[in-house]
This record gives sequence, structure tokens and C-alpha cells, in this order.
Amino acid sequence: MLVLGIESSCDECSVAVVEDGKRIVAHRIATQIEHHKPYQGVVPEIASRMHTEWILSVYRRTLADAGLKAGNLDGIAVTSRPGLSGSLLVGLSFAKGLAAAAGKPFIATDHILAHLYAPRLVEEIEYPFIGLLVSGGHTLICRMDAFDRLTVLGTTIDDACGEAFDKVAKYFGMGYPGGVIIDRLARRGDSNAFAFPDPSLHKGEHRYDVSYSGLKTAVVNQLDQFWNRKFEKSPENIAASFERAAVDMLLRRLFRAIEDTGITRIVAGGGVAANTYLRQQLSAGPEVESHFPPLELCTDNGAMVAGLGYHFLVRGERSDWNVNVQARVQRFRRTYP
Ligand code: KG4
Ligand code: ZN
Repeated sequence: MLVLGIESSCDECSVAVVEDGKRIVAHRIATQIEHHKPYQGVVPEIASRMHTEWILSVYRRTLADAGLKAGNLDGIAVTSRPGLSGSLLVGLSFAKGLAAAAGKPFIATDHILAHLYAPRLVEEIEYPFIGLLVSGGHTLICRMDAFDRLTVLGTTIDDACGEAFDKVAKYFGMGYPGGVIIDRLARRGDSNAFAFPDPSLHKGEHRYDVSYSGLKTAVVNQLDQFWNRKFEKSPENIAASFERAAVDMLLRRLFRAIEDTGITRIVAGGGVAANTYLRQQLSAGPEVESHFPPLELCTDNGAMVAGLGYHFLVRGERSDWNVNVQARVQRFRRTYP
């Protein structure tokens, strides 16, 4: 079954054709990074306009790469939630038009489920597992019992993990987007240079939650307070110390979830899952079995949408033509979606 996947929830305009939820036949990702760089962050109005300009050609080139025509497709999957409304609307409307014109089954899917599906494009992974979704917009520790059964365990009470990377990099003028730059700088730095605190207020229902606003304030406004003066106050050392604090905060909650549930299989997804230190820490011990998507499938992409969409389509599910976008997802704290 050949499924076309369309992703436009943020600043990547991506289309893929995936066979049977696994084999990537063709995949194009057009990133808007250069267009948002002058603003050091994604500008929603620019993002939706770029999608409008690009989506038809990204789609046409992907089909040409695959040597296919719309008539060869068995279904169309698209991200409809959560994300930037204007950006989502471009992909959703395009997908509806295409599905209607070509007479193909159509399914609107969830971006969070898609990120946690991404590693399954390259390897078989059994359920249940603990999902760790860390990106510029999301920070989620969850239990997954099937591709569409997600139970939220913890989330952020303020900034998303990737957002914290981006904000710290922006403050120090390191560049945009911040995650990959901090990762690169951190490799040459010493993470003992600054001892940033881990907020320890999370008990009871916040057992698995994280908070990045305190860490961000510590790095940006109170740097000297946490500085070990035996080390140089260099961008490399700031990056390494911040990275360790941001990732260790996640790992502590994650290992708590592993202990409580007895599930030792972990699947990571989202842009921050590309982080070198996170990958090293999770791959280090024999006590957990960790799965990461390849780097190009960590950030937003159409292949994960097509892969996830296949599983809904193959069991006969279809979306209504009047399905709309959702910027945020309701009742995020319990069962999802
Ligand atoms: O999944 P994604 O493309 O978009 C969202 O759905 O948000 O993730 C982008 C986020 C950005 O905040 C970026 O700084 C972060 O992922 N990121 C990283 C790395 N590569 C990307 N953060 C830490 N280390 C990296 N290597
Ligand atoms: Zn994403």
C-alpha cells in the first residue's frame, strides 16, 4: 500500500511516499530555516506563506522521485494537529484537494504520534514502550501500547526542551536554530564548568514533569552564581553545562517512569532526539533498550506521517472532509489523543 504523507505543522514543508508503513520510496524535506533565521525563531505568518508557495512543487518532485502519479497512490495522510494553525491549514487543505481530485482515501493524523512512529520506518519495535518526544514545541514522556494508544506520564510545565536550547543560544548570540549549535559547541566544552540546578518541586502528579524556565533563567541571568571558577566562562563550557542540565532533567524523569512501569524499552523522537549527549546517555547502559530515529527523521518530516497514516488507512479509517486543524490538543495530561 503506497501512502503519501504531508507535513507542514511548523517550518518544514515535507512530502513522502511510504510503502506499507515501512519502506520510504521517496522523501523531500524543504526547510524554511533560512527564512526564519533573521528573526531567530519561527515566524508563523512567514511559515504559512512559505508552505503555500512550496507545497505543490515539493509534492510534484517527490512523486517524480518515486516515478509515480497521483493515481498510483493508495491513500493520503496529513498532519492536522498540533502545530501552527496557518501552517497546518496549508498541508491539510492541499491534502484534501489532492485526495478529492484523485479519489483517494484521506486521513488526518497527529504530529505527536507521528514523531513517535518515526523509528519504526527503519526497524521493528515492539509495544509497549516509553516514548520520549522532545522538540521545539513538545516535551513528553509517555507510555505507548500501540501506534495510536498513548498515555501521557509527564510533560513540561513551561518551555519545551528544544525551545530552551533555542532561547539560550539566542541570548548568547550563538546562532539559529540553537539545538544543533549548542550540541556542536558542547562537544568541545566541559559540563562541570557550571552546576545548574534541577527543579525538585515535582512530586505526586508532577512526578514525571520537567520545567525549563528556571534553567533558562539560571543560564541567562544568573550564570555567575553557578560558575565553578576553576573553568573558563566560554561559550563551549556554557553550552556543555546547559546541555547536560537540560538532558539530565529529562533522563531522571524517564528513568523514574521506567522504574515505575517496568518497561525498559525507550523510543525517542523530535528534534532534540538528535542531541549527541542524549543519544550517548541512553545508549550507554545495558539496562534499557533504546531506539532513536536516524537524524533526518528526528526533525519534522513527511515520512513519519505517511508511515503512521498507513496503519489507520489499512484498517479502513478515513477522516471527514470537514476535519479542521487543531493548534493544541485537548486533555493533554491524560489519555491521548
Ligand atoms: O521536531 P522539530 O523539527 O520541530 C518541532 O516539532 O518543534 O524540532 C526542532 C527542535 C529545535 O528546538 C532545535 O533546536 C532542536 O529541535 N534540535 C536539537 C538538536 N537538533 C535539533 N536540540 C538539541 N540537540 C540537537 N542536536
Ligand atoms: Zn515536530
